[in-house]
Amino acid sequence: MRKISSPKVFQAEMRKLRERAKTIGFVPTMGALHDGHLALVRRARRENDIVAVSIFVNPAQFGPKEDFKRYPRTIGRDEKLLKNLKVDYLFHPTPKAMYPDSYALKISMGSPWVKDRLRKKFFPLLENLCGKYRPGHFEGVMAIVAKLLVLAQCHRTYFGQKDYQQAILIRRMIEDLHFDVIMKVLPTVRESDGLAMSSRNRYLSGDERRRAVALSRTLFWLRGQVRSGTRNILWLKREAARRLKPAVDKIQYFDIVDPQSLASLRRWQTEMVVLTACFVGKTRLIDNVTIKVKNQKS
Ligand code: PAJ
Repeated sequence: MRKISSPKVFQAEMRKLRERAKTIGFVPTMGALHDGHLALVRRARRENDIVAVSIFVNPAQFGPKEDFKRYPRTIGRDEKLLKNLKVDYLFHPTPKAMYPDSYALKISMGSPWVKDRLRKKFFPLLENLCGKYRPGHFEGVMAIVAKLLVLAQCHRTYFGQKDYQQAILIRRMIEDLHFDVIMKVLPTVRESDGLAMSSRNRYLSGDERRRAVALSRTLFWLRGQVRSGTRNILWLKREAARRLKPAVDKIQYFDIVDPQSLASLRRWQTEMVVLTACFVGKTRLIDNVTIKVKNQKS
């Protein structure tokens, strides 16, 4: 595995590979790797000649009161894991290299073509859910992913469903900017009790870790209810929140939304996503499940 920290060198290397007709799979991460990340890397390994992984804790996507400084950095361990999976390139730039003082780009979302009345219905992508509670977060994510894709020049790029809103926004950005890349979104990898794997899980104390399982448990409960015929979305939302509340310290949001627009639903439909963000202690955890059902009661 070759480790590269210079963006220019990484870009030149990827260009050479492309010229030699090699297919490139690219997995962007912030490191502190766990099995969720590694599932993306394994899939990239199976589907491409060359695999590149980036590890970069992106300052632009953290709010001023968030955990940028504290975010786990375990580069030595990460390198070993990636080597074992036969990764070819690790791109590990410094913040200065990605954001020199002259850096000015901002990427946002919102359609100039859609009238205000429809905007709320079709474009809550950026404003709803995490967007509402982490202002600037997704702009920071989109900017770094755009930059990384321009550097990696990959054929395929891999993301996790764990960050559902992020995946939807990046897909939109890839289409809107005509990036010549296939984006794959892989299912959430979970601990044996159901907790979604996350680099932030290591912040949890023993007691918090036990309580954190309430997120996935509640989401699965709700999906089970819909599968067995419950159609009252507003009731389901209320009841799920009531179940979640005693286990967590704060529910930031718990919502059932349209899988594409992320608009909050008041009525049942055949495809839905249930998403939540909660604080357990001081740690903010997110999780989601998708629901697909037929139009009749089963
Ligand atoms: P990070 O949180 O390190 O996640 C990197 C990738 O791994 C993302 O696509 C994320 O959705 C995926 N992932 C995380 N936990 C997962 C799990 N339990 N199962 C499956 N996939 C999982 O997401 C980011 O970094 C950053 O925002 C990034 C896209 C790298 C931009 O900075």
